[in-house]
Amino acid sequence: MNTLQSKKILLIISGGIAAYKSLELIRLLKKAGAGVRCILTQGGAKFITPLSVSALSGEQTHTDLWSLKDETEMGHIRLSRESDLIVVAPASASFIAKMAFGLADDLGTAALLAADKPVLVAPAMNHMMWNHPATQENIGTLMRRGVKTAGPCAGDMACGETGIGRMAEPEEILTSIRAHFERAKKLSGLRALVTSGPTFEPIDPVRFIGNRSSGKQGHAIAAALASCGADVTLVSGPTALPDPASVKTIHVETADEMISACRAAAPADIAICAAAVADWKPAQTQKKKIKKDKNAPPTLTLTENPDILSALAQPGPRRPRLVIGFAAETENILESAHAKRMKKKCDWIVANNVGTKEKIFGSDGNHVHLITASGQMEWRGSKKDIADRLVLEIMDHFKNLKLSEAAE
Ligand code: C5P
Repeated sequence: MNTLQSKKILLIISGGIAAYKSLELIRLLKKAGAGVRCILTQGGAKFITPLSVSALSGEQTHTDLWSLKDETEMGHIRLSRESDLIVVAPASASFIAKMAFGLADDLGTAALLAADKPVLVAPAMNHMMWNHPATQENIGTLMRRGVKTAGPCAGDMACGETGIGRMAEPEEILTSIRAHFERAKKLSGLRALVTSGPTFEPIDPVRFIGNRSSGKQGHAIAAALASCGADVTLVSGPTALPDPASVKTIHVETADEMISACRAAAPADIAICAAAVADWKPAQTQKKKIKKDKNAPPTLTLTENPDILSALAQPGPRRPRLVIGFAAETENILESAHAKRMKKKCDWIVANNVGTKEKIFGSDGNHVHLITASGQMEWRGSKKDIADRLVLEIMDHFKNLKLSEAAE
């Protein structure tokens, strides 16, 4: 089946000489069976006309955020919500900067800010503009937010200079669009359960035992699984993060609530325990705020919390086919993580060194080792990159399982 058949693409054409190539992109997308709606920015309209865009897309071309007629018939919110993918081609340096800053001062940027859909950008600009630290920071910001890129490529530019900045050819952009939709199906049919964030164990109505986990890694994993088509339930302790798109998020506070939510979400094919569950909780939670006593501070009696990872990894008919744990270690990272994998009976463990100068808790970056029964890999990158790498390994694992099941 053709991956692009009936897919709805919103194409935003910003200002650049490469805009003429977008006409070919519209033609290729239509030929592949996709529906294409277009927004032509003011800059884009300096290079190609709404008439040629409409003639090729077979749809009205949208140009103006302030047009009463356009906004009544097809507002910017509907334009973005009714698409499966938003493509910005060409994406000029200025348009990328506006996206990075979250500006919404024209129809294209307003549609993007209102969008809950995946976005692919095809940058096109002079090589000095592309290499400028401002543009590199802006594109980095977009990529950390999950925006995909196609190109730019190296070659001769319209301005007569040579370097990286040419927009990818329409066929290459089409390949990236296809790859996006193919990837989006790779884990379809699989259910995944992810735990993330800290747990807060109440001492009394105002105090609790907690930890510094931000939940960024667990949330990024849930989002990466969902973007590959998995049916994801995220059980999250208290974090400052928004719920990831296309993920069923259940908010909990304590380890007991977390394990109940995990049990309720079962059965799952994949379980990933990225939460920093408090090891202990107060044996008793006081109903009223403990008064500050003049004589002595109160003594807290602690009791052990349930181990969610161990519980999920116990052999049995309801055990997920792949159980992955995390191990935050400060010394003998690999040995401790290997031992933890055996003790907790999980299939894989992601070990990270939280004792180095690299700040891990709360930061956007991570440095981990993935430990499986057959070996280990070392990854460094943003928490989003680590999530993507892990999801690629998960895809391979299930592909191999399918192959061996088929061979039996
Ligand atoms: O034992 P430790 O806390 O080092 O193990 C870390 C791994 O176990 C993580 O995957 C964490 O999510 C999981 N864990 C859990 N329930 C606990 C403690 C840890 O699921 N009570």
